[in-house]
Amino acid sequence: MNSQPSKTRILMVCLGNICRSPLAHGILESKLPSRTYFIDSAGTSNYHIDAQPDKRSIAVAKENGLDITSQKARQFTILDFEDFDIIYAMDKSNYQNILDLAQSETDRLKVKLILNENPSIKDKNVPDPYYGGDSGFEYVFRILNETCEIIAKRLLK
Ligand code: 4NP
Repeated sequence: MNSQPSKTRILMVCLGNICRSPLAHGILESKLPSRTYFIDSAGTSNYHIDAQPDKRSIAVAKENGLDITSQKARQFTILDFEDFDIIYAMDKSNYQNILDLAQSETDRLKVKLILNENPSIKDKNVPDPYYGGDSGFEYVFRILNETCEIIAKRLLK
């Protein structure tokens, strides 16, 4: 008999899958038991397929005790609607790009803007830190950490 519990599957999505969603992936994964949760990430673009996370995301994760170096970028596909229970978009543009690929109401209902889970943050876009400096990555880490804490607490309640 198979006694493995079925896992809740959560996908984090940004544009390139090298800056924001790898952080969201690593952070949420660190807050939930791997026995019952599977976390992954993807990008809506094909710009960085197979690349490691951006070195600035790797660095801010490391400063906060997380190793995200084994992640590898991939592009979001419509099969992800079948594979995942919750799909979190990092900003409204990613959100719309994912919704444009949805084929049913069931698909659409899985897609959420991640910062809608955090009532203390007004701007609901996780800012794209790619063209900025290290402080942008520190800010992204801080708001994703705060938001993933809210998400994990609710899921584990
Ligand atoms: P991400 O950031 O969507 O958080 O991974 C970006 C990474 C790369 C590019 C844009 C955003 N790019 O244009 O290459």
